[in-house]
Amino acid sequence: MNRVIALANQKGGVGKTTTAVNLAASLTATKRRVLLIDLDPQGNATMGCGIDKNAQPRTSCDVLLGDCAATEALVPVEYGGFMLMPANQDLTAAEVRLLTMIAGREFKLRNALKPIRDSFDVVLVDCPPSLNMLTLNALVAADSVMVPMQCEYYALEGLSSLIQTIDQIRTSINPELQIEGLLRTMFDPRNNLSNEVVGSAHRTFRGQGVPDHDSAQREAGRGTELRQARALSRQGIARRPRVSGARGRDDSPRRTAFSRRHD
Ligand SMILES: Nc1ncnc2c1ncn2[C@@H]1O[C@H](COP(=O)(O)OP(=O)(O)OP(=O)(O)O)[C@@H](O)[C@H]1O
Ligand SMILES: [Mg+2]
Repeated sequence: MNRVIALANQKGGVGKTTTAVNLAASLTATKRRVLLIDLDPQGNATMGCGIDKNAQPRTSCDVLLGDCAATEALVPVEYGGFMLMPANQDLTAAEVRLLTMIAGREFKLRNALKPIRDSFDVVLVDCPPSLNMLTLNALVAADSVMVPMQCEYYALEGLSSLIQTIDQIRTSINPELQIEGLLRTMFDPRNNLSNEVVGSAHRTFRGQGVPDHDSAQREAGRGTELRQARALSRQGIARRPRVSGARGRDDSPRRTAFSRRHD
């Protein structure tokens, strides 16, 4: 069964793109047919795949605006082995155009993907760091959403609004939308704050069916080549996701400003 997974978090720099690119390469290595959609005008996923974002005749912008079919905008990622729908700055203009449309603007990606969904086992959508019309299109097109979360002080700020948005989309447009989980990125178990953030996220979201997962691509963030990262990520993906062993408030040796604020 094929699956569309959006990687979303309106907070910037939390590892959405790094996760998306490495997940695409890893899933390809496990013999799955993978499509990565760059839905961020920064075009980082496109660049991360070694594709020149400014030299593409067709991009996700054209697809969203209905100027071309999704198949026309796909390019092969040579050393990743998967397909990419690239993006560049033009996507900003597309978002503005979408905002002025009255009907059906949230369904543009979903409708565009319909003819090609069956050609892939997994479609990953790399979202921009904003809860805008592009992210909304991704969430409406998706079967599930994965939320990369950097384990630092402000990590939980905004997560609640993302979860609320997901709930709203579920009740109004896409009842099938699942939360794949919170993915801890740049997590350092030796760091007290990292552990507190994980514990706090666990306490905040455990009643809402939000599992949390370990990030397996620390090396990728250090600029490891895609091929090496693919091998590393493969090991990580083989690992079963586990619910974090969050320390409860009572057995915590020391409560910091962070835990007082978020508990
Ligand atoms: N697991 C990781 N370990 C270490 N560094 C990482 C990891 N994931 C990402 N990084 C680094 O963090 C930075 C931001 O990552 P990335 O661009 O993937 O985040 P993003 O959420 O897509 O950002 P944006 O919101 O701007 O699109 C990059 O420099 C990347 O190399
Ligand atoms: Mg990104």
